[in-house]
Amino acid sequence: MKITFTLNGESISLAVDPARPLLDVLREDLNLTGTKQGCDHEGECGACTVLVDGQAVRSCLTPMGKVAGRHVETVEGLGGADALHPLQDAFIEVGAVQCGYCTPGMLMAAKALIDRTPTPTRGEIQEALAGNLCRCTGYKRIVEAVELAVERMRGGAAARAPGAGSGTEDEGVIGGDARRTDAVDKVTGRALYVEDRRMPGLLHDTVLRRATVRT
Ligand code: FES
Ligand code: FES
Repeated sequence: MKITFTLNGESISLAVDPARPLLDVLREDLNLTGTKQGCDHEGECGACTVLVDGQAVRSCLTPMGKVAGRHVETVEGLGGADALHPLQDAFIEVGAVQCGYCTPGMLMAAKALIDRTPTPTRGEIQEALAGNLCRCTGYKRIVEAVELAVERMRGGAAARAPGAGSGTEDEGVIGGDARRTDAVDKVTGRALYVEDRRMPGLLHDTVLRRATVRT
């Protein structure tokens, strides 16, 4: 079935099974691996969060048939390395990016929130991100990063969060947070994890174990 939709501002038509998850089409057919898969399509982790008509959705649970005629936004459309979205900037600056696997989903969930609620309370931020799991950060800096981005988008010259690094190359090693060298790749979806790598002709095997029951 041919499905036409808008992806990061560009109209696109694909011949795909309408039952296939949007996540798989993004990652496997379109090579947009910024959107992550973290729970075997169970809808539990939020790593696959994208926006469909401005709403944050689990792309692993969204069949392609529901995407027809709609607007899909992924982390690749949020901002590039030379023009980061304020959320991406704030995530880096505050130190909300560690392994970065949850980051694209967090960013998209946060974007959905501030698009509809430009000045969210801390409670609203926490609620909007509640379905996005992060094993690294403890969430505190992620929430602070969203608050910082909101403040800046309102035109406020918000100070950095306590403990956040300046991001400059020459920042002291002791007493400051070094800016991660791969942070920009992680907030733009360009960072490649094992599951993101494509190796043409790669063979897969499976270990089968046979149990012998003695009676
Ligand atoms: Fe975990 Fe979609 S992959 S919620
Ligand atoms: Fe590692 Fe969130 S930064 S899972």
